Amino acid sequence: MTAIDRQRDPAAALIVRPMRESDVEAADRIMRTAFGTFLGAPDPLLVFGDAQYVRPRFAAEPSWAFTAELDGKLVGSTFAARWGSFGFFGPLSVRPNLWDRGIATALMAAVVELFERWQVKQAALFTFPHSPKHIGLYQKFGFWPQYLTPLLEKAPVPGRRGRPGRTFGELAEHERPAALATCRDLTDGIFPGLDLAHEIRATDTQGLGDTLLLEGPDGLAGFAVCHLGAGEAGSGTCYVKFAAARAGAGARDRFDELLDACEALAHARGLKRIVAGVNAARHDAYRRLLARGYRVSFEGVVMQRPNEAGYCRPDVYVLDDLR
Ligand SMILES: CC(C)(COP(=O)(O)OP(=O)(O)OC[C@H]1O[C@@H](n2cnc3c(N)ncnc32)[C@H](O)[C@@H]1OP(=O)(O)O)[C@@H](O)C(=O)NCCC(=O)NCCS
Repeated sequence: MTAIDRQRDPAAALIVRPMRESDVEAADRIMRTAFGTFLGAPDPLLVFGDAQYVRPRFAAEPSWAFTAELDGKLVGSTFAARWGSFGFFGPLSVRPNLWDRGIATALMAAVVELFERWQVKQAALFTFPHSPKHIGLYQKFGFWPQYLTPLLEKAPVPGRRGRPGRTFGELAEHERPAALATCRDLTDGIFPGLDLAHEIRATDTQGLGDTLLLEGPDGLAGFAVCHLGAGEAGSGTCYVKFAAARAGAGARDRFDELLDACEALAHARGLKRIVAGVNAARHDAYRRLLARGYRVSFEGVVMQRPNEAGYCRPDVYVLDDLR
């Protein structure tokens, strides 16, 4: 049990604990109300449309989901995720009438403790660059603001390749461990220990989307975890949660082919919008999205712990936004 700031609210007792199935609905409502209120949405509950964040993240790994309970009532939550040697978290939210009472700080302490237990090399988050409160909250835990992470979108058209390529979902169960190992080798070449197996599996198991596996002449050229329609992407949307082209000479061409394949997949599934985030430190990757007609819809900022580049570097061709 964590003591909430007793000077401000001497009677209140705050507990941070793993989320339970019975918390999911209330956590979802609080998450939407909190973001909608912060963003000034006319009806805060409608801020994310039918896109889901709480349910899929809880289902992916309940022990990585944290709930804050104040005097027996759910008042906030957050979700950690582990991609091998890399950890991130979000969304973090607190019921608006209880802001500035240390509840997010208590949730953050639980997340940071988990990252330390995992011994991740790098941890990160995506937040609002214009908010001194958000930046100050995360800095207390050793996360420092770095480059912007724009979210970009466009209407998908079939790419030059014309076909979406092979997907993880099409593989037989016995072929999957080898495919995950190949993806791990690819990301390990970008940031040691980076491993998307959890995300690829969770996307498949929950039917949220599929992972493109782009084969090139020398093996796996790239892969992209695409959320397709209702679920985390939202109806009509293909959300590229993570995509990576193999590092080294020719990476930019592999990245272009991967972008083609993502568009072809979105188009083939009848989706009207493709959404992808890229950290602006991955300068050429960012410029390539702009050159293809993607437009920025939102600017976030990545904050990292420790304050190192990790895989936000100019030579890296990765899409993700850590939302
Ligand atoms: C962001 C949010 C989770 C914070 O929750 P909270 O419970 O109000 O946060 P806390 O009270 O634990 O901590 C806020 C910290 O920000 C700090 N802070 C506030 N204004 C600040 C400023 N101008 N400069 C620096 N730090 C500031 C406070 O000092 C406080 O730390 P302290 O208590 O040690 O002084 C909550 O406002 C929320 O749900 N917002 C909507 C959803 C959202 O934006 N989520 C985060 C997306 S990344």
